[in-house]
Amino acid sequence: MSTETTAPVKRITANTFIEMKAENKPIAMLTAYDYPMAYYLDQAGIDGILVGDSVAMVELGFENTLSATMDIMVHHTQAVRRGVKRALLVADMPFMSYQSSVQSAVENAGRLVQEGGADAVKLEGGESFADQIEAIIEAGIPVMGHLGLTPQSFHMFGGYGLQAKTVASAKQLIEDALLLQDIGCFSIVLEKIPAELAALVSRKLTIPTIGIGAGSSCDGQVLVAHDMLGMFERFKPKFVKQYVQLAGIMREAFEAYISDVKSRAFPASEHSYSMDPEVLAEVEKAVQEINATD
Ligand code: KIV
Repeated sequence: MSTETTAPVKRITANTFIEMKAENKPIAMLTAYDYPMAYYLDQAGIDGILVGDSVAMVELGFENTLSATMDIMVHHTQAVRRGVKRALLVADMPFMSYQSSVQSAVENAGRLVQEGGADAVKLEGGESFADQIEAIIEAGIPVMGHLGLTPQSFHMFGGYGLQAKTVASAKQLIEDALLLQDIGCFSIVLEKIPAELAALVSRKLTIPTIGIGAGSSCDGQVLVAHDMLGMFERFKPKFVKQYVQLAGIMREAFEAYISDVKSRAFPASEHSYSMDPEVLAEVEKAVQEINATD
């Protein structure tokens, strides 16, 4: 029996995020929707993994995030959970899983934690959803807020443009951020707002801001993994930095495979299994006997 022991992994919690802000340590987050992506992200040392409702677009091919349902979010959160040992796992609350009532908000947040294995949930919006957020936190589930561009409301915004550009909307965003902090959110995603405003908000809060299209002064950053990997070609927002062009690499590999199959270059002998010659001789004899009786 081996006497070697592996040191337990120190898991990142919602409180770790707040400590990281206090220690001025930037927080790195990315999305993941399946086991392999989550596994590689965790191994790479990511601080937080978001199972975003962006799954509807980048994994499932829908037009927007409104098609994500609770069942879809639970299914993908479960797969991600199996791949994550260290990072904080945050699951998005999908459209209409919290908007209609406090009770459905608590029940659905509970499903993401109990069935999906999430450590925390994220939901979009400020003051309008304060009751839901308070009740979820009261139930013992950490909540990450999400202000600025909130894609579940794109019909109201009339698209996906830059948010909080005016004095009134910027003031509203600051008030919403302070309110989310007061009612107990452990962090807030700031999406597609001017960098100067994100810097102001980040300085004012003691909980971390996680920016996406909100400049470099946020306490952390998040991107959709498919965007930074170059796996989503329908559009590329200005705020995305592409670290690799996986779509092209995948297309080349698929084309090479198809060509190998068509030319019979694959499988080669190293990809095939051989039969014991004596067994083969017996089998061939048996086939001859069958042929003779046909
Ligand atoms: O769904 C998602 O991926 C998100 C990020 C863009 C923050 O909410």
